[in-house]
Amino acid sequence: MKILAIETSCDETSVAIVERQESAHFVTVLAEATATSLPEHAQTGGIIPENAARKQLEFILPTLQKVLDDYANQNSLSYKHVHEIVKREIDAIAVTYGPGLIGSLLVGVETAKTLSFVLNKPLLPVNHLIAHLYANFINSENENVKKIQFPFIGLIVSGGHTDLLLFTSHTSYSWLGGTRDDAAGEAFDKVGRLLELPYPGGPEIERRARNVSDASISFTSPLLHSKDYDFSFSGLKTEALRCVRKEKKLTDGFVDAVSYALQKAIVDVLVKKTLCAAHEHNAPTVLIGGGVAANSVLTHCFNDGLSSSKLDVEILFPERKYCTDNAAMIGAYAAFCNTATDWHSVKADPEVYFS
Ligand code: KG4
Ligand code: ZN
Repeated sequence: MKILAIETSCDETSVAIVERQESAHFVTVLAEATATSLPEHAQTGGIIPENAARKQLEFILPTLQKVLDDYANQNSLSYKHVHEIVKREIDAIAVTYGPGLIGSLLVGVETAKTLSFVLNKPLLPVNHLIAHLYANFINSENENVKKIQFPFIGLIVSGGHTDLLLFTSHTSYSWLGGTRDDAAGEAFDKVGRLLELPYPGGPEIERRARNVSDASISFTSPLLHSKDYDFSFSGLKTEALRCVRKEKKLTDGFVDAVSYALQKAIVDVLVKKTLCAAHEHNAPTVLIGGGVAANSVLTHCFNDGLSSSKLDVEILFPERKYCTDNAAMIGAYAAFCNTATDWHSVKADPEVYFS
């Protein structure tokens, strides 16, 4: 089955063609392209939703065209027109319907609905958050995909969400817990702004924390000892704010030390609660997904936590380029959840969570 997937929930405009062979455990990416308006948001220090939506409109058709052109060239197709390629080569269209920014979501959803309507293809609406976990099912250079077994624990750590889920099949899952306030990525971004680092804060804080060999500042890891699967990161931001106000001057050494302390406080609680969930539910696999999954200290701490816990669990991260928003992960979940819907009933939903 070949799926044309579209992702436009925030500031990335991404299109991919993915294929899942009959009962395969993974999908293969046949063509993909992603445009981003991130440089524009870096100038304003954060995302202004209307600007993001305008950029989605600007990027969507050229990105779609590029992916279909690349696919046609790679496969030496004699037909080159968009509608012919989709009509003859694609079995279904998948699109992120939420959560996300409404203006951005509408661009992808309306494009996908139009393709589905005009070319008479089934439409697969995909929850963006679950798709972040299914980035682990993309078999590019990632051989680990063959190790995934049910039930698995999913940890979603993105700019807007921090959630732990238990999956017993591709389509049945339960929510174990999540953040009570800010998401992990949001804490990185907000403290990044306090430290006057470029947006988004996460990758910059990881880079600055690498300069620290001896920690001079430490923050409390929030809810580290609570017996539930809740997270809370807004207090951490306040702790960082107090520390910055006290210091007054943002020297390089101070920015490095705050970055290190913040990253450690976030990573410690993510690792501890996720491993507890795997233990409690006897899960042989843990899948991590979302932008914060690109953090290499998170990977190291999961591996360290695993060796000291002696749990027999495989912890998998997507390939780095599939941690942040991309259409291949949307196609990946669509290939497994297979909920083809008539285009009339697909609507963008900025607030959709887990149903
Ligand atoms: O999943 P994503 O691309 O977008 C959302 O769906 O929200 O996640 C973006 C978030 C941002 O908050 C960004 O700071 C964070 O992922 N992020 C990182 C790293 N790379 C991206 N956080 C920590 N370390 C990183 N290396
Ligand atoms: Zn995302």
